[in-house]
Amino acid sequence: MTRRYTILGLVGDGIAGEIVPEAMKVLRAAEEVYSLDLEVLGPYDFGAKYWVDHDMKQGWDPAITEGLFREVDGIFKGPAGLPDLLRRLPGPNLPINMRLDLDLYANIRPCRLRPGVDSVLVGRKTGDIDYIVLRENSEHMYVGIGGYLSRGGVTELAIDDYVQTRKGCERIIRKAFEMAKTGEYKGRAGAPLDGKKRVTCTAKWGICKGDGLFKDIYHEVAEDYPDIEQDTTWIDSWSYYAIMRPNFYDIAVMPNQYGDIMSDMSGALQGSMGLAGSLNAGDDHCFAEPTHGSAPDIAGRMISNPTSMILSVGMMLNWMGNKHGDRRLKEAWSGIDSAIDRVLGAKKVRTPDLKGNNSTSEFGSAVADEVRKGG
Ligand code: IPM
Ligand code: MG
Repeated sequence: MTRRYTILGLVGDGIAGEIVPEAMKVLRAAEEVYSLDLEVLGPYDFGAKYWVDHDMKQGWDPAITEGLFREVDGIFKGPAGLPDLLRRLPGPNLPINMRLDLDLYANIRPCRLRPGVDSVLVGRKTGDIDYIVLRENSEHMYVGIGGYLSRGGVTELAIDDYVQTRKGCERIIRKAFEMAKTGEYKGRAGAPLDGKKRVTCTAKWGICKGDGLFKDIYHEVAEDYPDIEQDTTWIDSWSYYAIMRPNFYDIAVMPNQYGDIMSDMSGALQGSMGLAGSLNAGDDHCFAEPTHGSAPDIAGRMISNPTSMILSVGMMLNWMGNKHGDRRLKEAWSGIDSAIDRVLGAKKVRTPDLKGNNSTSEFGSAVADEVRKGG
């Protein structure tokens, strides 16, 4: 038995109420198989609906205190926000606030074409696409610096400051090179095309000063990693090449907003947004959440794909395993990751986004059963 770990769960809006319970099922199965001792607090409600239902005064269940976020070993949450609400209300903006408050500077978003999933690109098959969007998560347009100019009651001007710092660039770029070394969160280390470990730096340095700093620091850091191939391309051209030759990419590191956009594009390259797991990671804390949003258009029908949520929770276990040097947590992540591959590869139980007829919970149960089989 490993030591006891405390995990905080948060549910969120829309399909969160369907996919979070499936991630819990899988977490419980992993706990049994890998002899983990996990205390899960919640999963508690929070989000835009919660905020509105509580007179716009309270954004989350009162059992959750600000301090709790810092005390627990890991946090996971389902997608939050509903159309128009996320923009107007500070309360449900928890995901963004937490990225800054807990200094979760790395957003790790793997893009892998898994077994049994049809590619949207003609001719691409399992294993051809296996890269990570490593999104800087604490700077750029997301720092919330800016404001409005109103004259005569009319908003005439809005400014968002775009911030890049040496510290912010340096730590995310170093993380990219470290991740290329290990191949962590990928199917295998290196790019599918040639097996080469490669870190692609992408931004818009011809135009934005902050992106110039990002690239300069990339070259500085790269000197410490002579065995890893360097690759630089503007972000607009990367969006082209990622589709034309996705197999060339291994780790792609980029400033915050580009990472937001490219991670959804990468969701398409995986075959469904419902497969896009993600982890907000810092040195001291982590916060797992799928790349996608709350999908209110399909919520309530139990047709959502819980894979993204399950993978995010698995990535959280791996991060905890690294932090505490606990092999079992890392094995639990590999067990979950490969169970997902086996269920998808068997093509028997599939949600409608992958042309199947199964429900969210049928898929979650199939993954939990597969985790119990081990391997
Ligand atoms: C994401 C989301 C968030 C972001 C939204 C919900 C604020 O799109 O995690 O990619 O922009 O980071
Ligand atoms: Mg996004």
